Amino acid sequence: MREIRFGIIGAGLMGREFASAAARWAHLLDQSVRPRIVAVCDANPATHAWFAATLPEVRLSTDYHDLLADPDVEAIYCAVPHNLHQQLYIDILRAGKHLLGEKPFGIDHPAFAAINAEIEAHPDLLVRCSSEYPFFPGAMQLYQWVQAGRFGRIFEVEAGYWHCSDLNPNKPINWKRRIATNGEYGCMGDLGMHGLHLPVRLGWRPALLRAQLSKIVTERPDGQGNMVPCETWDNAILSCDVHAPEGDFPMTISTKRIAPGHQSSMFFRVSGTACSAEFTTKYPKQIRYLPYTPGGEQAWREVDVPYKPVYPTITGEIFEFGFTDAILQMWAAFCDELAHGRDGMHQPFYCVTPAEAGTCHDIFTAALQSHATANTVRL
Ligand SMILES: NC(=O)c1ccc[n+]([C@@H]2O[C@H](COP(=O)([O-])OP(=O)(O)OC[C@H]3O[C@@H](n4cnc5c(N)ncnc54)[C@H](O)[C@@H]3O)[C@@H](O)[C@H]2O)c1
Repeated sequence: MREIRFGIIGAGLMGREFASAAARWAHLLDQSVRPRIVAVCDANPATHAWFAATLPEVRLSTDYHDLLADPDVEAIYCAVPHNLHQQLYIDILRAGKHLLGEKPFGIDHPAFAAINAEIEAHPDLLVRCSSEYPFFPGAMQLYQWVQAGRFGRIFEVEAGYWHCSDLNPNKPINWKRRIATNGEYGCMGDLGMHGLHLPVRLGWRPALLRAQLSKIVTERPDGQGNMVPCETWDNAILSCDVHAPEGDFPMTISTKRIAPGHQSSMFFRVSGTACSAEFTTKYPKQIRYLPYTPGGEQAWREVDVPYKPVYPTITGEIFEFGFTDAILQMWAAFCDELAHGRDGMHQPFYCVTPAEAGTCHDIFTAALQSHATANTVRL
């Protein structure tokens, strides 16, 4: 069993998810590699208590340079606000550590370019961007159907990621609603990777793009009795033209903080002449599909997808797959690629590459331009 010694920088919502996934590695079957968390850093010491109680042997710090200087740390998972991605990711690479960074991989296009230049200077390091939703078995099934050509001629794709909690105007402000910390991209920087991951992996890069961006709730309570500006885009609808060898098609990518009733839904829909299908994490156990032959019946079918992720687990096929399972699978893919290389992985679905994160930045930047000028932008 090859052990990869990890440090975590950013012990908030996502940092804890990763620590929890490492703690239940035994859930996975037939692994020849496992992560061990040896050090954790968060600038806010209040976050340390959970780690001290859960992983008492882990070294805790408020200064990420401690992890960079620690020869015991081989790889780092970094989950900090977007304005810190550029500095921290570059420092991590310069310290010679492998990196699983969080989306959007830089607060804007120049930040991504600076990170990418550093990545190119360290070809020996594995660098990937976190994005877990394609590891849901239903999403993976649709991805494999596209690869197998099962849809016939694809004539429309819709994908996205929808939240609803921001419909509540009393929800307090946080860093994700401020341009200085979340970035001009707003909801696209935060949620866009989830909608774009499968389209980008499938090579569906927009050639033309028209964006509609909305700010719906313009101020929020600051938790101290004041109302403060809520600056970022709440919702974004990107209408794209995709050029494909078998025929061009429209693709709509939507990222919404205010989609009534959607706690947190990633969805992926493909319409084709031989089959149409959709998956959403709102109904994580199901896919809907409509196989079609000319003149035949057009009847949607609903089928329960077995719990059968790309890395086998102890869980029976009859049970449901969830967010924490997707994080575990994604991390297994990162560790697998780090230990065995892309060609030696136990299954072929690798984590988001820097080039794929760069494509997302191209799309978000074009979307800002499109909205500002009310024009269609050519990518
Ligand atoms: N993959 C996913 O599904 C998913 C979900 C949510 C967030 N994210 C991404 O994860 C990242 C973090 O988001 P989050 O929701 O965990 O945020 P969070 O606010 O819960 O956690 C961020 C943590 O970073 C810490 N921090 C800030 N400055 C630091 C510094 N200089 N050194 C060390 N720690 C510092 C904060 O104290 C905080 O605890 C973002 O890039 C976000 O887009 C990914």
